[in-house]
Amino acid sequence: MRILVTGGKGQLGAALQRASSAHEIRAPGHGDLDVTSAAAASEMIELFRPEIVIHAAAQTDTAAAERDPAAALAVNGEGTGNVARACAAAGVPIVYVSSNEVFDGEKGAPYDEGDAPHPINEYGRSKLAGEEAVQEAGGDFYIVRSSWLYGPGRTSFPEKIIERAQADGALRGVTDEIASPTWTVDLAAALLALASAGRFGVYHLAGEGSCSRQEWAEEVLRLAAIDVPVEPVHQADFGLPFRKPLDSTLANQRAAELGITLRPWREALAQHMRTPQIAELIAARAGRR
Ligand SMILES: NC(=O)c1ccc[n+]([C@@H]2O[C@H](COP(=O)([O-])OP(=O)(O)OC[C@H]3O[C@@H](n4cnc5c(N)ncnc54)[C@H](OP(=O)(O)O)[C@@H]3O)[C@@H](O)[C@H]2O)c1
Repeated sequence: MRILVTGGKGQLGAALQRASSAHEIRAPGHGDLDVTSAAAASEMIELFRPEIVIHAAAQTDTAAAERDPAAALAVNGEGTGNVARACAAAGVPIVYVSSNEVFDGEKGAPYDEGDAPHPINEYGRSKLAGEEAVQEAGGDFYIVRSSWLYGPGRTSFPEKIIERAQADGALRGVTDEIASPTWTVDLAAALLALASAGRFGVYHLAGEGSCSRQEWAEEVLRLAAIDVPVEPVHQADFGLPFRKPLDSTLANQRAAELGITLRPWREALAQHMRTPQIAELIAARAGRR
């Protein structure tokens, strides 16, 4: 397949490139394709003529989105609309990567694909605006919600936990934010499988099972053999001007019907912890002792 990936230098964009050796892929970074330009999105699609576009570009900083909702909307809502309309005009299906944060987290059970979104922060609102723009563009689409991405080539949650444990010898972990850690390696493979399936619609793809941030941090430290306690705290203890959903665990029902599932989050994390970037982090810690 000829695949165009937006946000090619982001953590998911990079994983998609690594997973796409069987495909012809172009993955421009922000500097080469700014999705806030409708003309740039159209031109890229006309030039490369992809068979599918995986739209992974986004403004993903929740705090920044809260400070400047219009800027988040410009990228995640209007920018997504630009890409989706360019795809529709060219007759190319789009895969829009959306978020668990379109849900309010109050359901008390995992969200399935048919549940009504109700975001509670500006990032979530901007991602939902992106979903609506994709649906309104008139072309074929997959909307794929995922959660808590981490993976090779980026300092994400596991690396931050290890660094913090090394620096401070103590950690605090939030117990009232629950979702599913998702390894970008697994998500990239699942997205490519789904993109080949030709069954358009809304999907949930995230690591199987769920945990709180505190449990995730504890599992990272256990696997890294770092004996630092993670004090349970609440979101409110950090005094942030926004809330994350309490439990936005995503249930994969529709992709599972196509045989596309992700492994349990603890298994994927254990494999991530064996990657060179983690081994180097832990070795650096041992060297500083
Ligand atoms: N990270 C998560 O936990 C998570 C969870 C659920 C869903 N998602 C969704 O998954 C997708 C991939 O996320 P990720 O973790 O890979 O995010 P990421 O690492 O922040 O990558 C996003 C990329 O988009 C680029 N970008 C920002 N504004 C752009 C613009 N106007 N035009 C083109 N590119 C732009 C960024 O470039 P610059 O950095 O140079 O601006 C960055 O390289 C996003 O749609 C995100 O909303 C993420």
